[in-house]
Amino acid sequence: MAKTKTKTKTPSKKQSTPLAAAAPSAPNVDIGITAGARKEIAQALSHFLADAYTLYLKTHNFHWNVTGPMFNSLHLMFETQYTEQWGALDEVAERIRALGFNAPGSYREFVALTSIPEEPGLSDSADWKEMVRQLVVGNEAVCRTARATLKTADNGSDDPTVDLMTQRLNTHEKYAWMLRSLLQ
Ligand SMILES: [Fe+2]
Repeated sequence: MAKTKTKTKTPSKKQSTPLAAAAPSAPNVDIGITAGARKEIAQALSHFLADAYTLYLKTHNFHWNVTGPMFNSLHLMFETQYTEQWGALDEVAERIRALGFNAPGSYREFVALTSIPEEPGLSDSADWKEMVRQLVVGNEAVCRTARATLKTADNGSDDPTVDLMTQRLNTHEKYAWMLRSLLQ
């Protein structure tokens, strides 16, 4: 009797062992940057993402609504810029995720985080010079935020973010120069 009881208990114990074990949880982020630095860099990148998204949307808006004798060249120039900017937004958001934080992705969050003021839409009174002026100012605002983010990343020894911000600075400083040249 005793032998039979032991035999029936043993297989049930073996079966319950894998079921009772907790599912492995995700390990903490441990990429060689302190948690405090990762948070600071992610916050700086979130401000950059909000500025870059706001500028992207403004550039696309002006691609749609530009009129006048400069239509063809500006329509194409704006398209080249917003297409490139769109790809960069993804890189920035995914860098925030790699640092262990959620990327902002709603208009409400972007409006709260951006340093670029939302100006009235120019759909009804499109003036190409005003559009170009706003894009110069917007690209320069993105440059200032990129520069601040780069410094925060450098302080935290975050080379991939330093590299990403260096690329964005190079691009947005070039856009600001090209756009400003149209008004000179
Ligand atoms: Fe288009």
